[in-house]
Amino acid sequence: MLGIDLSDPGLTLPAHAEIRVLDAFEADPQSLGGPFDLVISDMAPKTSGQRHADQFRSYELVIRALELAKAVLEPGGGFVAKIFQGAEFEDARSAMREVFSKVRTIRPNATRDESYELFLVGLGFKPLNC
Ligand SMILES: C[S@@+](CC[C@H](N)C(=O)[O-])C[C@H]1O[C@@H](n2cnc3c(N)ncnc32)[C@H](O)[C@@H]1O
Repeated sequence: MLGIDLSDPGLTLPAHAEIRVLDAFEADPQSLGGPFDLVISDMAPKTSGQRHADQFRSYELVIRALELAKAVLEPGGGFVAKIFQGAEFEDARSAMREVFSKVRTIRPNATRDESYELFLVGLGFKPLNC
């Protein structure tokens, strides 16, 4: 199990888990290992208070996570990504539909009423070169 984050969460992890301090935009997919059967992105931008700018940064993070997932997922694998709902939401969903058999949108029950966070779930990864 591998996690990446801009900052060290300072957690004690079991032997099979590792967290690397890394910017997802700079991560070399080849260095991440794999193949993995699931990629989860809980990445979110630091909010600026400008809702559309924050939504766009969230969309960029989802697309970057998807790029990494395409490089490291095994066929049939899954992908879950948090996204701030906004103008680019449908573009993110369309990008996932290109490479997953099923794409679902989930708003967990625990989400605060005022939050505009959603999770996109992709099941059944279909590598484009297959
Ligand atoms: C909502 S927090 C979730 C963190 C963790 N999943 C948790 O529950 O504690 C969003 C995280 O996204 C990370 N993040 C934002 N931009 C990133 C990037 N470009 N590369 C890697 N991590 C990023 C932040 O550092 C932050 O820790």
